[in-house]
Amino acid sequence: ESQSVLDVVTYIQRHIDPTLSYRFACRVGMCGSCAMTVNGAPRWTCRTHVDKVAADGRLEIAPLANLPVIRDLVTDMGEFFDKWARAKGQFAGERKRGDDFARVAPGSAPRRLADAGIECIGCGVCYSACDVVAWNKDYLGPAALNRAWTLVNDERDAQQGVRLRAVGGDAGCRSCHTHVSCTERCPKALSPTAAIAGLKRATAK
Ligand code: SF4
Ligand code: FES
Repeated sequence: ESQSVLDVVTYIQRHIDPTLSYRFACRVGMCGSCAMTVNGAPRWTCRTHVDKVAADGRLEIAPLANLPVIRDLVTDMGEFFDKWARAKGQFAGERKRGDDFARVAPGSAPRRLADAGIECIGCGVCYSACDVVAWNKDYLGPAALNRAWTLVNDERDAQQGVRLRAVGGDAGCRSCHTHVSCTERCPKALSPTAAIAGLKRATAK
């Protein structure tokens, strides 16, 4: 009961079916690579104990939904991370090597908003849980929008207008129906829903 779901998958591969393909790296909830669908819900499997999720003593393990399956439990994360790029999810500074360090007050309101979403591990659980992603393959999805929101609140970043345009279109924050599945499922207890609401306000302004 106290083994993780990832331990079960590993056992199956080592003792029952050596052809089984799956993905993991850290085994301690840091890398985000072990996410799968367990009894119908997306989860990080290295931190999910069997007794928390087994239903009538059974586990049904499947690949993440909303992503192409490469093989068995391995999904192609390409579109997931391509959407981070489309949402301008990369920091763009303007200071040069000789400039002084930027000083961001730890208690400032934007810093706190950025902090609230910064611990994303890119696991794809929210993306797999999102109904809007299932309906609209173009939708940027909760993780990419959460990342964009952390950067909107980074006073050092120099591509704010470009980013707000990138997340404000039909495939962006306004497509979110606020079902809150992403926030309900995020293993890091982040709230992409709150981040998307912030983007809706920022793009409206
Ligand atoms: Fe995973 Fe949460 Fe980041 Fe989504 S927001 S990719 S569920 S850590
Ligand atoms: Fe790294 Fe699960 S194996 S988060």
